[in-house]
Amino acid sequence: MTTTPEWIMIGGDGPESYSQHSSYQRALLEAAKDKMTEAILTNLSLDLISNRFSVADFGCARGPNTFVAVQNIIDAVEEKYRRETGQNPADSIEFQVLFNDYTLNDFNTLFKTLPPGRRYYSAGVPGSFFDRVLPKESFHIGVMSHAFHFTSKIPKGIMDRDSPLYNKDMQCTGFNQAVKKAYLDQYSIDIKKLLDARAEELVPGGLMLLLGSGLRDGVKKSETRNGIVVDFIGESLSDLAKQGVTEQEKVDTFRTSNYFAEQGEIRQIIEENGKFTIEAFEDIIHPKNEFPLDPKILVISVKAFYGAFIAVHFGTKVMRKAFELVEIKAREHISRLENAKPGMQYLIVLRKN
Ligand SMILES: C[S@@+](CC[C@H](N)C(=O)[O-])C[C@H]1O[C@@H](n2cnc3c(N)ncnc32)[C@H](O)[C@@H]1O
Repeated sequence: MTTTPEWIMIGGDGPESYSQHSSYQRALLEAAKDKMTEAILTNLSLDLISNRFSVADFGCARGPNTFVAVQNIIDAVEEKYRRETGQNPADSIEFQVLFNDYTLNDFNTLFKTLPPGRRYYSAGVPGSFFDRVLPKESFHIGVMSHAFHFTSKIPKGIMDRDSPLYNKDMQCTGFNQAVKKAYLDQYSIDIKKLLDARAEELVPGGLMLLLGSGLRDGVKKSETRNGIVVDFIGESLSDLAKQGVTEQEKVDTFRTSNYFAEQGEIRQIIEENGKFTIEAFEDIIHPKNEFPLDPKILVISVKAFYGAFIAVHFGTKVMRKAFELVEIKAREHISRLENAKPGMQYLIVLRKN
């Protein structure tokens, strides 16, 4: 079984909470609504829409974006039913939503903030999505929003000072070929496990919708806006170590269990696993143009990705100071950010074979 990590998205509604920093992810979900609807209208068989329909969100956090993701899906299923049967879905379909995340996730806040007037029953599903977390054939459509870039652990060697893989540069500028390979190998193992588990839990013909950030083929993360900002985070943490606000040792041992894969790598992993067919692999045009250029908004967006990791390793005070410095660096190097290569925001539609 995958172990529960120390980090977890920051719960509640406070200034550092995930809910205050996740508008970037939410914007992707809103931008993807039409494509999600189209994917469901095209790929979901009407036979699967019976009196009980289950949707599962893997890596839901404490909300609120998960509510947008599952509502997009429910709206599309209802639309399909209405169009193809001429009947009102409210008369015959009951929806169930299964919210999955690590056991330590703030499920209390999630359940307290469930949207009023929702047309679904809710249940929490604790546990790592790299393992089985649900009974066989228990849901019809699964979604993962900004959770498909996680690995279950830091690859071997990366944390070991004597290893050629030891990576002092926070997996970005110093992300050389060997380090990249170590992350990709770990990612490939993890994603194949994840697909095996979902293939058992999904009903035959069921769909998985994957939304997130990745890389176009041949583009290095360090060349993208996201990567440049990760370098700013690394530099800011080192600055704080020099000022004695934190220790250099802590900076050197800081890693995130993320791998932003290239499009071709994702395709290859899914095809090698063989449990799903890729029905669509769409570029989503993000309304904020990947990462916004306003340094203040950019910092808020990046906090949603990295804030939890930094807070647990360095403490909240250091995290706040680091992001203040990141904002200054973003202002100073705005032309580097302007000239960065584009990353990729995707919607991948998988159908269980
Ligand atoms: C960046 S947040 C995305 C949250 C939400 N889906 C959204 O779009 O805003 C990623 C979530 O994935 C969860 N996560 C990461 N690895 C996981 C795993 N192995 N099992 C379950 N949840 C995981 C994290 O705890 C976190 O809540």
